[in-house]
Amino acid sequence: MANVFITYQLPEAAQKLLEAAGHTVTMRPEESLISPDELALALGSADAVITLLTDKIDAGMAEKAGTQLKVIANYAVGYDNLDVPALQARGITVTNTPEVLTEAVAEHAIALLISVARRIVESDTFLRTGKYQGWRPMLLLGTGLTTKTLGIIGLGRIGTDVAQRAKFGLGMNIVYNDLKPNPEFEQKFGATYYAKLEDLLPRVDAISIHVPLLEATKHLINAERLSLMRPSALVINTSRGPVVDEKALVAALQNKQIGGAGLDVFEEEPKLAPGLAELQNVVITPHTASATIEARSAMAELAAKNVIAVLAGEAPITPIKPA
Ligand code: DGY
Repeated sequence: MANVFITYQLPEAAQKLLEAAGHTVTMRPEESLISPDELALALGSADAVITLLTDKIDAGMAEKAGTQLKVIANYAVGYDNLDVPALQARGITVTNTPEVLTEAVAEHAIALLISVARRIVESDTFLRTGKYQGWRPMLLLGTGLTTKTLGIIGLGRIGTDVAQRAKFGLGMNIVYNDLKPNPEFEQKFGATYYAKLEDLLPRVDAISIHVPLLEATKHLINAERLSLMRPSALVINTSRGPVVDEKALVAALQNKQIGGAGLDVFEEEPKLAPGLAELQNVVITPHTASATIEARSAMAELAAKNVIAVLAGEAPITPIKPA
């Protein structure tokens, strides 16, 4: 049968399913990310490769793919690490892992929102560092979320799930920005559409970002747009770091132009922009929005099933469509 290369250790479902389908699996261990040389070698020899979002396959790397390579299954819903057109031009099927992580990421976005608004991390540190002297009326006051307005930037699966939790779980009002309006969503959520971010940003108490990273979305939230937000407004980002100009965000937080931020993704992971980690009004997590046992296992299963389907000459479950 076929040779499947997995660039980093994944939950066991992936290897089990692939081996049960009769394939030979080579899975790199957990210690380190794959080097470009090793990735090039895999592309030139394996029939299928399962990649992480940290494995970069640009046009040059895509050229290393041999004619034996049938499928690249990205272990992520986002696929900005791959030059999809370059791979597809070589006849390689490319797949991702949508849907199975929607709930996990939406939960995490809400967790960041509440953590920033209610100063959870700051309060935890306060207590652990021995500063707590007893109950005080004005100690660590946060801001409530009920009846406040959340702006969803990008109304895909995850954006819609966040809206659902914010509206029906937290009692927030929803406004949104996307390429086009969604009347059905507006009716169900009593939501208002803003075609321009410039019209949405001054009206919200928080934004939650859910767009893919594309040329058009790089630095979508920049200094100019941050300056339109209320001084109390919060920025939540669980999409991709470069969608927000991180230096501009740090400046806006330092200058109290906005109220706080909850970030799971960063422009130059694993690095943080200078000054970010020193800010009190920020909650940061290391790109773990989809890191639940359930989601990560389901992602492994889906990536493996996509590979199995393509190697069997069938259509994959979640192909990335040609642009
Ligand atoms: C994705 O899938 O794109 C997330 O960022 C990682 O879970």
